[in-house]
Amino acid sequence: MTDPRLRPFDPADTDACYEICLRTANNGEDATDLHTDPRIVGEVWVAPYLAHHPECAFVVEDDQGVGGYIVGAPDTAAYDEWADRVWFPPLRERHPAGSFPDSKADGDCVNLIHTPPVMPAEVTSEYPAHLHIDLLPRLQGRGFGKQLMNALFAACREAGADAIHLGCSPENTNAIAFYQHLGFSDLMAGFLWGRSTEAVS
Ligand SMILES: CC(C)(COP(=O)(O)OP(=O)(O)OC[C@H]1O[C@@H](n2cnc3c(N)ncnc32)[C@H](O)[C@@H]1OP(=O)(O)O)[C@@H](O)C(=O)NCCC(=O)NCCS
Repeated sequence: MTDPRLRPFDPADTDACYEICLRTANNGEDATDLHTDPRIVGEVWVAPYLAHHPECAFVVEDDQGVGGYIVGAPDTAAYDEWADRVWFPPLRERHPAGSFPDSKADGDCVNLIHTPPVMPAEVTSEYPAHLHIDLLPRLQGRGFGKQLMNALFAACREAGADAIHLGCSPENTNAIAFYQHLGFSDLMAGFLWGRSTEAVS
């Protein structure tokens, strides 16, 4: 058995990243049973980053395969503009508004596809980058979350971003405790967090 290792994202990891996204999408827990379309949550929260900023994507791999990732964008305003103009239009055709009337989780994703969130300039001017991080349970609590953060922070600094933000449901208390431990501060009512992209020791 070889030790898990962090490495840059490779396009061959894409399907594994969709799977990890689904299996952590219920406030950090498995959301498989909540979705009728197993890929829709990844279409919103991970795949566009892999497509647009592969240099800011890193994965953790062990003998069972890729089991964790971090993705991000160094310039959130530019990312939001690109996603609205390029990434979401084909998805809007594939999933018209009102799709999945019997699945709240899928319906919420359809709403995001049609009306993607745009981070206010007050946030992006001070914290220009943003990120999403997810590890499957077998790789949690072993230091890989911190390693992934440091890899992304370095990529963001390389791209000129000296601060970063992230959104998190206040119900995901485990993730919030992790962010606080890494020095993120609460920017907005416990669901928006920010810090510098200096490495965490
Ligand atoms: C949240 C998550 C990314 C954290 O990654 P992780 O690999 O489990 O965390 P690490 O093992 O790297 O922990 C790094 C440090 O944070 C601390 N930490 C982690 N979780 C913590 C918690 N719940 N409370 C307090 N400290 C915590 C660790 O003790 C460690 O401290 P140290 O470096 O001083 O020793 C990971 O658990 C995860 O992917 N969870 C499921 C998906 C999810 O919720 N994603 C976030 C969506 S917003």
